Amino acid sequence: MTTLAPAAKASSSTDPLLLIDVDHVRFYVGNAKQAAMYYAHCFGFAVEQVQDLTTGSRDSATYLLTQGNIRFLLTTGLSSQHAASHDVMLYGDGVKDVAFTVFDATKAYERAISNGAMSGQEPRTISDAHGSVTTATIRTYGRAQHTFVSRTGAYELTKIKEGGVFAPGFRKLEDLAINRYNREHPCGLKYVDHLVGNVELGKMNYWVKWYENVLEFTMFKHFDDKDISTEYSALMSKVMASGNNLIKMPINEPAEGKKKSQIEEYLDWHGNTPGVQHLALRTDDELHSIAELRRRNVEFLTLPDTYYELVWARVDKMLTEHGHKPVREDHEAVKKLGILVDADDEGYLLQLFTRPLQDRPTLFFEIICRRGSQSFGKGNFKALFEALEIEQGRRGNL
Ligand code: FE2
Repeated sequence: MTTLAPAAKASSSTDPLLLIDVDHVRFYVGNAKQAAMYYAHCFGFAVEQVQDLTTGSRDSATYLLTQGNIRFLLTTGLSSQHAASHDVMLYGDGVKDVAFTVFDATKAYERAISNGAMSGQEPRTISDAHGSVTTATIRTYGRAQHTFVSRTGAYELTKIKEGGVFAPGFRKLEDLAINRYNREHPCGLKYVDHLVGNVELGKMNYWVKWYENVLEFTMFKHFDDKDISTEYSALMSKVMASGNNLIKMPINEPAEGKKKSQIEEYLDWHGNTPGVQHLALRTDDELHSIAELRRRNVEFLTLPDTYYELVWARVDKMLTEHGHKPVREDHEAVKKLGILVDADDEGYLLQLFTRPLQDRPTLFFEIICRRGSQSFGKGNFKALFEALEIEQGRRGNL
Protein backbone atom coordinates (compact mmCIF):
# COMPACT_ATOMS: atom_id res chain seq x y z
CA MET A 1 0.00 0.00 0.00
CA THR A 2 1.34 3.41 -0.87
CA THR A 3 2.06 5.67 2.07
CA LEU A 4 -0.51 8.40 2.22
CA ALA A 5 0.36 11.71 3.81
CA PRO A 6 -0.20 12.30 6.65
CA ALA A 7 0.81 8.70 6.74
CA ALA A 8 -1.82 6.38 8.00
CA LYS A 9 -0.08 3.04 7.75
CA ALA A 10 -2.82 1.16 6.02
CA SER A 11 -1.38 -2.25 6.63
CA SER A 12 -4.41 -3.98 8.02
CA SER A 13 -8.03 -4.10 7.02
CA THR A 14 -9.31 -6.00 10.05
CA ASP A 15 -10.49 -2.77 11.68
CA PRO A 16 -13.47 -1.51 9.65
CA LEU A 17 -13.04 2.00 11.07
CA LEU A 18 -9.35 2.28 10.15
CA LEU A 19 -9.21 5.58 8.29
CA ILE A 20 -6.73 5.57 5.43
CA ASP A 21 -7.02 9.22 4.50
CA VAL A 22 -9.29 12.23 4.32
CA ASP A 23 -10.88 11.25 1.03
CA HIS A 24 -12.33 14.71 0.52
CA VAL A 25 -14.08 17.58 2.24
CA ARG A 26 -17.37 18.51 0.62
CA PHE A 27 -18.65 22.07 0.78
CA TYR A 28 -22.20 23.08 -0.02
CA VAL A 29 -22.02 26.42 -1.79
CA GLY A 30 -24.39 28.78 -3.57
CA ASN A 31 -22.52 28.74 -6.85
CA ALA A 32 -19.88 26.03 -7.25
CA LYS A 33 -18.55 27.35 -10.55
CA GLN A 34 -17.72 30.71 -8.99
CA ALA A 35 -16.60 29.33 -5.62
CA ALA A 36 -14.11 27.09 -7.47
CA MET A 37 -12.44 30.15 -8.93
CA TYR A 38 -12.29 31.85 -5.52
CA TYR A 39 -10.46 28.93 -3.89
CA ALA A 40 -8.22 28.59 -6.93
CA HIS A 41 -7.37 32.28 -7.10
CA CYS A 42 -6.97 32.95 -3.37
CA PHE A 43 -5.65 29.62 -2.07
CA GLY A 44 -3.91 28.06 -5.06
CA PHE A 45 -6.19 25.08 -5.60
CA ALA A 46 -6.30 23.37 -8.99
CA VAL A 47 -9.79 23.25 -10.47
CA GLU A 48 -9.51 19.73 -11.82
CA GLN A 49 -12.78 18.00 -12.53
CA VAL A 50 -16.48 18.61 -12.74
CA GLN A 51 -19.75 16.74 -12.48
CA ASP A 52 -22.63 18.80 -13.86
CA LEU A 53 -25.31 18.90 -16.55
CA THR A 54 -22.68 18.13 -19.19
CA THR A 55 -21.90 14.84 -17.47
CA GLY A 56 -25.54 13.96 -16.86
CA SER A 57 -25.82 15.28 -13.32
CA ARG A 58 -29.30 16.82 -13.38
CA ASP A 59 -29.72 17.87 -9.75
CA SER A 60 -26.34 19.28 -8.68
CA ALA A 61 -22.99 20.53 -9.93
CA THR A 62 -19.75 19.57 -8.21
CA TYR A 63 -16.18 20.75 -8.78
CA LEU A 64 -13.13 18.82 -7.58
CA LEU A 65 -10.35 21.10 -6.34
CA THR A 66 -6.98 19.70 -5.33
CA GLN A 67 -3.74 20.84 -3.76
CA GLY A 68 -1.14 18.48 -2.28
CA ASN A 69 -3.18 15.77 -0.60
CA ILE A 70 -6.20 18.05 -0.11
CA ARG A 71 -9.35 17.34 -2.12
CA PHE A 72 -12.34 19.67 -1.91
CA LEU A 73 -15.67 18.97 -3.56
CA LEU A 74 -17.73 22.12 -4.06
CA THR A 75 -21.37 21.23 -4.62
CA THR A 76 -24.28 23.43 -5.54
CA GLY A 77 -27.91 22.39 -5.99
CA LEU A 78 -29.52 22.90 -9.39
CA SER A 79 -33.03 22.96 -7.95
CA SER A 80 -34.64 24.02 -4.70
CA GLN A 81 -35.15 20.33 -3.88
CA HIS A 82 -31.46 19.51 -3.59
CA ALA A 83 -30.03 19.27 -0.06
CA ALA A 84 -27.31 21.77 -0.95
CA SER A 85 -29.93 24.41 -1.82
CA HIS A 86 -31.63 23.81 1.51
CA ASP A 87 -28.41 24.04 3.54
CA VAL A 88 -27.12 27.10 1.70
CA MET A 89 -30.43 28.87 2.30
CA LEU A 90 -30.15 28.20 6.03
CA TYR A 91 -26.40 28.48 6.67
CA GLY A 92 -24.71 30.02 3.65
CA ASP A 93 -21.64 28.29 2.19
CA GLY A 94 -19.92 25.79 4.45
CA VAL A 95 -18.52 22.34 5.04
CA LYS A 96 -21.10 19.59 4.69
CA ASP A 97 -19.07 16.42 4.76
CA VAL A 98 -15.69 15.24 5.94
CA ALA A 99 -15.22 11.99 4.05
CA PHE A 100 -12.76 9.26 4.97
CA THR A 101 -11.19 6.68 2.70
CA VAL A 102 -11.56 3.22 4.24
CA PHE A 103 -10.99 -0.32 3.00
CA ASP A 104 -14.68 -1.17 2.89
CA ALA A 105 -17.23 1.62 3.16
CA THR A 106 -20.10 -0.80 3.83
CA LYS A 107 -18.30 -2.43 6.75
CA ALA A 108 -17.25 0.93 8.17
CA TYR A 109 -20.83 2.19 7.92
CA GLU A 110 -22.29 -0.93 9.51
CA ARG A 111 -19.83 -0.70 12.37
CA ALA A 112 -20.60 3.00 12.92
CA ILE A 113 -24.35 2.31 12.83
CA SER A 114 -23.99 -0.52 15.34
CA ASN A 115 -21.97 1.94 17.45
CA GLY A 116 -24.99 4.26 17.50
CA ALA A 117 -24.60 6.49 14.43
CA MET A 118 -27.59 7.92 12.61
CA SER A 119 -27.61 7.10 8.90
CA GLY A 120 -27.21 9.81 6.30
CA GLN A 121 -27.11 7.50 3.30
CA GLU A 122 -26.99 3.72 3.05
CA PRO A 123 -24.09 2.13 1.18
CA ARG A 124 -24.20 2.82 -2.55
CA THR A 125 -21.77 1.71 -5.25
CA ILE A 126 -21.22 3.53 -8.51
CA SER A 127 -19.13 1.65 -11.02
CA ASP A 128 -18.11 1.58 -14.65
CA ALA A 129 -15.64 -0.36 -16.77
CA HIS A 130 -12.71 1.27 -14.94
CA GLY A 131 -13.59 0.58 -11.31
CA SER A 132 -15.97 1.47 -8.54
CA VAL A 133 -16.58 3.86 -5.68
CA THR A 134 -18.69 2.84 -2.69
CA THR A 135 -19.97 5.53 -0.33
CA ALA A 136 -22.00 5.39 2.88
CA THR A 137 -22.79 8.31 5.14
CA ILE A 138 -23.44 8.92 8.81
CA ARG A 139 -24.63 12.14 10.38
CA THR A 140 -22.65 14.06 12.97
CA TYR A 141 -23.28 17.42 14.69
CA GLY A 142 -25.77 19.81 13.12
CA ARG A 143 -26.18 19.14 9.42
CA ALA A 144 -22.61 17.91 9.01
CA GLN A 145 -21.80 14.36 8.07
CA HIS A 146 -19.05 11.81 7.52
CA THR A 147 -18.99 9.69 4.40
CA PHE A 148 -16.97 6.49 4.22
CA VAL A 149 -15.47 5.94 0.77
CA SER A 150 -13.89 2.77 -0.60
CA ARG A 151 -12.44 2.64 -4.07
CA THR A 152 -11.35 0.02 -6.62
CA GLY A 153 -9.58 -0.03 -9.99
CA ALA A 154 -8.94 3.33 -11.66
CA TYR A 155 -10.73 5.07 -8.76
CA GLU A 156 -8.30 4.04 -6.04
CA LEU A 157 -7.02 7.02 -4.12
CA THR A 158 -3.43 6.51 -5.29
CA LYS A 159 -4.67 6.91 -8.87
CA ILE A 160 -6.71 10.01 -8.01
CA LYS A 161 -3.58 11.58 -6.56
CA GLU A 162 -1.86 11.02 -9.89
CA GLY A 163 -4.63 12.91 -11.66
CA GLY A 164 -7.07 10.08 -12.32
CA VAL A 165 -10.81 10.64 -12.59
CA PHE A 166 -12.30 11.11 -9.11
CA ALA A 167 -15.34 8.89 -9.52
CA PRO A 168 -17.64 7.66 -12.30
CA GLY A 169 -19.53 10.68 -13.63
CA PHE A 170 -16.69 13.18 -13.21
CA ARG A 171 -15.07 14.84 -16.18
CA LYS A 172 -11.57 16.30 -16.25
CA LEU A 173 -11.45 19.97 -17.15
CA GLU A 174 -8.96 21.18 -19.66
CA ASP A 175 -5.91 22.72 -18.00
CA LEU A 176 -7.14 26.14 -16.93
CA ALA A 177 -4.90 29.21 -16.98
CA ILE A 178 -5.40 29.57 -13.22
CA ASN A 179 -4.11 26.00 -12.72
CA ARG A 180 -0.97 26.76 -14.71
CA TYR A 181 -0.50 29.95 -12.72
CA ASN A 182 -0.89 28.05 -9.46
CA ARG A 183 1.71 25.48 -10.48
CA GLU A 184 4.14 28.32 -11.13
CA HIS A 185 3.21 30.13 -7.89
CA PRO A 186 2.41 27.36 -5.39
CA CYS A 187 0.79 28.14 -2.04
CA GLY A 188 2.31 24.99 -0.54
CA LEU A 189 -0.76 23.57 1.21
CA LYS A 190 -0.28 19.84 1.80
CA TYR A 191 -3.16 18.24 3.69
CA VAL A 192 -5.89 18.75 6.28
CA ASP A 193 -4.17 18.92 9.68
CA HIS A 194 -7.31 19.22 11.76
CA LEU A 195 -10.90 20.22 11.52
CA VAL A 196 -12.82 22.02 14.22
CA GLY A 197 -16.53 21.82 14.99
CA ASN A 198 -18.58 24.32 16.99
CA VAL A 199 -21.40 22.76 18.99
CA GLU A 200 -24.06 24.25 21.26
CA LEU A 201 -23.58 25.26 24.86
CA GLY A 202 -23.38 22.17 27.04
CA LYS A 203 -22.98 19.75 24.13
CA MET A 204 -19.19 19.37 23.92
CA ASN A 205 -19.05 16.26 26.07
CA TYR A 206 -21.98 14.73 24.22
CA TRP A 207 -20.05 14.98 20.94
CA VAL A 208 -16.79 13.86 22.55
CA LYS A 209 -18.62 10.68 23.60
CA TRP A 210 -20.15 10.39 20.14
CA TYR A 211 -16.71 10.37 18.48
CA GLU A 212 -15.47 7.88 21.06
CA ASN A 213 -18.42 5.54 20.64
CA VAL A 214 -19.31 5.85 16.98
CA LEU A 215 -15.98 6.41 15.20
CA GLU A 216 -13.89 4.86 17.99
CA PHE A 217 -11.77 8.01 18.29
CA THR A 218 -9.87 8.80 21.47
CA MET A 219 -9.23 12.03 23.30
CA PHE A 220 -5.96 13.41 21.97
CA LYS A 221 -3.57 14.11 24.82
CA HIS A 222 -1.63 17.27 24.29
CA PHE A 223 -0.22 20.31 25.94
CA ASP A 224 -3.41 22.34 25.72
CA ASP A 225 -5.32 19.95 27.99
CA LYS A 226 -4.03 21.35 31.24
CA ASP A 227 -5.47 24.82 30.94
CA ILE A 228 -8.12 24.45 28.32
CA SER A 229 -10.36 27.16 29.68
CA THR A 230 -9.13 30.57 30.78
CA GLU A 231 -10.88 33.81 31.57
CA TYR A 232 -9.99 34.96 28.07
CA SER A 233 -10.96 31.98 26.07
CA ALA A 234 -14.76 32.08 26.22
CA LEU A 235 -14.73 28.65 24.69
CA MET A 236 -14.06 25.13 25.81
CA SER A 237 -12.44 22.67 23.50
CA LYS A 238 -11.58 18.99 23.45
CA VAL A 239 -9.62 17.28 20.72
CA MET A 240 -10.75 13.93 19.34
CA ALA A 241 -8.40 11.88 17.18
CA SER A 242 -8.80 8.78 15.03
CA GLY A 243 -7.00 5.67 16.21
CA ASN A 244 -4.00 6.30 13.96
CA ASN A 245 -4.06 10.09 14.60
CA LEU A 246 -4.73 10.61 10.89
CA ILE A 247 -7.39 13.17 11.66
CA LYS A 248 -7.85 15.37 14.68
CA MET A 249 -11.19 16.97 15.35
CA PRO A 250 -11.33 19.53 18.13
CA ILE A 251 -14.86 20.24 19.36
CA ASN A 252 -15.66 23.69 20.76
CA GLU A 253 -18.54 24.87 22.83
CA PRO A 254 -19.16 28.44 23.97
CA ALA A 255 -18.25 29.42 27.51
CA GLU A 256 -19.45 32.29 29.62
CA GLY A 257 -17.52 35.47 28.91
CA LYS A 258 -17.97 39.17 29.35
CA LYS A 259 -18.84 39.57 25.70
CA LYS A 260 -20.35 37.38 23.04
CA SER A 261 -17.92 34.58 22.21
CA GLN A 262 -16.75 33.73 18.72
CA ILE A 263 -18.59 30.41 19.04
CA GLU A 264 -21.86 32.19 19.82
CA GLU A 265 -21.30 34.50 16.88
CA TYR A 266 -20.79 31.46 14.64
CA LEU A 267 -23.96 29.79 15.92
CA ASP A 268 -25.97 33.02 15.53
CA TRP A 269 -25.05 33.18 11.85
CA HIS A 270 -25.33 29.43 11.29
CA GLY A 271 -29.01 29.00 12.10
CA ASN A 272 -28.15 28.13 15.72
CA THR A 273 -26.87 24.88 14.29
CA PRO A 274 -23.50 23.27 15.04
CA GLY A 275 -21.07 22.98 12.15
CA VAL A 276 -17.47 23.06 11.01
CA GLN A 277 -15.77 26.25 12.23
CA HIS A 278 -12.38 25.88 10.60
CA LEU A 279 -10.18 23.63 8.54
CA ALA A 280 -6.49 23.75 9.34
CA LEU A 281 -4.36 23.20 6.25
CA ARG A 282 -0.81 22.07 6.74
CA THR A 283 2.24 23.63 5.11
CA ASP A 284 5.95 22.82 5.46
CA ASP A 285 6.86 26.49 5.03
CA GLU A 286 4.58 28.91 6.87
CA LEU A 287 6.43 32.01 5.71
CA HIS A 288 6.23 31.08 2.06
CA SER A 289 2.57 30.03 2.26
CA ILE A 290 1.42 33.13 4.14
CA ALA A 291 3.44 35.47 1.90
CA GLU A 292 1.89 33.88 -1.19
CA LEU A 293 -1.64 33.89 0.25
CA ARG A 294 -1.31 37.53 1.31
CA ARG A 295 -0.08 38.38 -2.18
CA ARG A 296 -3.32 36.82 -3.43
CA ASN A 297 -5.34 39.08 -1.09
CA VAL A 298 -6.36 36.39 1.40
CA GLU A 299 -7.49 38.26 4.50
CA PHE A 300 -6.03 37.16 7.82
CA LEU A 301 -6.76 38.06 11.41
CA THR A 302 -4.56 40.94 12.50
CA LEU A 303 -2.87 40.92 15.87
CA PRO A 304 -1.62 43.98 17.69
CA ASP A 305 2.14 44.59 17.31
CA THR A 306 2.49 44.12 21.07
CA TYR A 307 2.01 40.40 20.44
CA TYR A 308 5.59 40.23 19.16
CA GLU A 309 6.98 42.01 22.22
CA LEU A 310 6.11 38.98 24.31
CA VAL A 311 5.97 35.99 22.02
CA TRP A 312 9.67 35.21 21.53
CA ALA A 313 10.45 35.15 25.23
CA ARG A 314 7.46 32.90 25.91
CA VAL A 315 8.18 30.50 23.06
CA ASP A 316 11.95 30.31 23.49
CA LYS A 317 11.57 29.73 27.23
CA MET A 318 9.33 26.76 26.57
CA LEU A 319 11.64 25.37 23.87
CA THR A 320 14.83 25.63 25.95
CA GLU A 321 13.13 24.18 29.01
CA HIS A 322 12.38 21.06 26.99
CA GLY A 323 15.73 20.88 25.21
CA HIS A 324 14.59 22.07 21.79
CA LYS A 325 16.31 24.48 19.42
CA PRO A 326 14.79 27.97 19.19
CA VAL A 327 12.42 29.00 16.41
CA ARG A 328 14.43 28.84 13.19
CA GLU A 329 12.27 31.13 11.07
CA ASP A 330 13.41 34.72 10.76
CA HIS A 331 11.71 36.63 13.59
CA GLU A 332 11.31 39.85 11.63
CA ALA A 333 9.74 38.00 8.70
CA VAL A 334 7.33 36.22 11.05
CA LYS A 335 6.29 39.58 12.49
CA LYS A 336 6.02 41.25 9.10
CA LEU A 337 3.70 38.49 7.87
CA GLY A 338 1.68 38.60 11.09
CA ILE A 339 2.22 34.90 11.81
CA LEU A 340 1.50 33.46 15.28
CA VAL A 341 3.92 31.21 17.13
CA ASP A 342 3.40 28.82 20.00
CA ALA A 343 5.47 26.14 21.69
CA ASP A 344 4.93 23.14 23.91
CA ASP A 345 7.00 20.32 25.38
CA GLU A 346 7.44 18.72 21.94
CA GLY A 347 8.42 21.73 19.84
CA TYR A 348 6.74 24.69 18.22
CA LEU A 349 4.20 25.61 15.60
CA LEU A 350 3.46 28.55 13.33
CA GLN A 351 -0.15 29.33 12.53
CA LEU A 352 -2.41 32.01 11.12
CA PHE A 353 -6.17 32.28 10.75
CA THR A 354 -8.02 33.73 7.80
CA ARG A 355 -11.02 35.96 8.16
CA PRO A 356 -14.31 34.21 7.32
CA LEU A 357 -14.33 32.78 3.79
CA GLN A 358 -17.85 33.96 3.05
CA ASP A 359 -19.93 36.98 4.02
CA ARG A 360 -21.26 35.26 7.12
CA PRO A 361 -18.78 35.03 10.03
CA THR A 362 -18.76 31.24 9.91
CA LEU A 363 -16.16 29.00 8.21
CA PHE A 364 -12.50 30.05 8.06
CA PHE A 365 -9.14 28.40 7.34
CA GLU A 366 -6.05 28.07 9.50
CA ILE A 367 -2.65 27.73 7.83
CA ILE A 368 -0.40 25.71 10.13
CA CYS A 369 3.21 24.51 10.13
CA ARG A 370 4.39 22.14 12.84
CA ARG A 371 7.97 21.93 14.07
CA GLY A 372 7.43 19.16 16.60
CA SER A 373 4.46 20.63 18.42
CA GLN A 374 1.28 18.57 18.19
CA SER A 375 -0.97 21.07 19.94
CA PHE A 376 -3.22 23.80 18.64
CA GLY A 377 -1.81 27.15 19.69
CA LYS A 378 -3.21 27.53 23.18
CA GLY A 379 -0.61 30.18 23.99
CA ASN A 380 -2.13 32.39 21.30
CA PHE A 381 -5.68 32.23 22.60
CA LYS A 382 -5.58 35.40 24.69
CA ALA A 383 -4.12 37.51 21.88
CA LEU A 384 -6.44 35.88 19.37
CA PHE A 385 -9.61 36.43 21.33
CA GLU A 386 -8.75 40.07 21.76
CA ALA A 387 -8.20 40.35 18.01
CA LEU A 388 -11.44 38.48 17.35
CA GLU A 389 -13.39 40.82 19.60
CA ILE A 390 -12.17 43.75 17.54
CA GLU A 391 -13.38 42.00 14.37
CA GLN A 392 -16.72 41.05 15.93
CA GLY A 393 -17.14 44.69 16.97
CA ARG A 394 -16.59 45.78 13.37
CA ARG A 395 -19.38 43.41 12.35
CA GLY A 396 -21.69 44.71 15.10
CA ASN A 397 -21.73 41.27 16.75
CA LEU A 398 -20.48 41.94 20.26
FE1 FE2 B 1 -7.06 25.06 14.62
